[in-house]
Amino acid sequence: MSIPTPHIECKDKNLIAKTVLMPGDPLRAKFIADTYLTDVVQFNHVRNMFGFTGNYKGKRISVMGSGMGMPSIGIYSYELFNFYDVENIIRIGSCGAYTKDLKLYDVLLVEESWSQSTYAKVQNGYDKDVIESSKELNEQIENYAKELNIPIVKGRIHSSDVFYNGDFDAYKKYRDEYGCLAAEMESFALFANAKVSDKKASCILTVSDNIETKEETSSEERQNAFTKMMEIALQFAE
Ligand code: ADE
Repeated sequence: MSIPTPHIECKDKNLIAKTVLMPGDPLRAKFIADTYLTDVVQFNHVRNMFGFTGNYKGKRISVMGSGMGMPSIGIYSYELFNFYDVENIIRIGSCGAYTKDLKLYDVLLVEESWSQSTYAKVQNGYDKDVIESSKELNEQIENYAKELNIPIVKGRIHSSDVFYNGDFDAYKKYRDEYGCLAAEMESFALFANAKVSDKKASCILTVSDNIETKEETSSEERQNAFTKMMEIALQFAE
């Protein structure tokens, strides 16, 4: 396939940086571009899944929404990796904690994603239920977090296809039997695409709610509180 792709209208690969940060919400991508980047070019408007490239402290980086769920991030990350020569995608998202040890706004670095999803199996025959993120990107993320004095928690998360689980207590099994610290809904497909495309992907999450303690944040609070995670990820500008 050539560019533009069905879901990204950009006709020039050079308009997209080697590293793309992917929040779920395209308006958060716009917020990041408006708040942190200079000389911004918008490279995608299709379906309002906004994508921007700009400079952070004089170095280049892109940021684009992924949408919610594995099919959505699966499409965008595949097109970026395979048709736009993107090397690294770092998802920056929210998660629901499965343990009371995690507090609202804690920052998690995903070492591996566990999922019941068939995404990787359907996509390329991969039939295990765990996929690792890039060790190389994770090392850089850890170093940047240290430099910025931002504490991070590392571990396995549950990449789920279901937000409204019919069995409210199911999270206990995901936590106690499968070792998952929290739930989100995209990283498994992102990591599967990175693996099959021979590219790198990682995922940084901020705790937006706690499924065990039932604490939650409002969408307004989230917009502001997620700055720690964004600042770590922006260090990938080059
Ligand atoms: N993202 C943020 N909170 C979540 C939750 N409770 N479940 C799944 N994904 C989430």
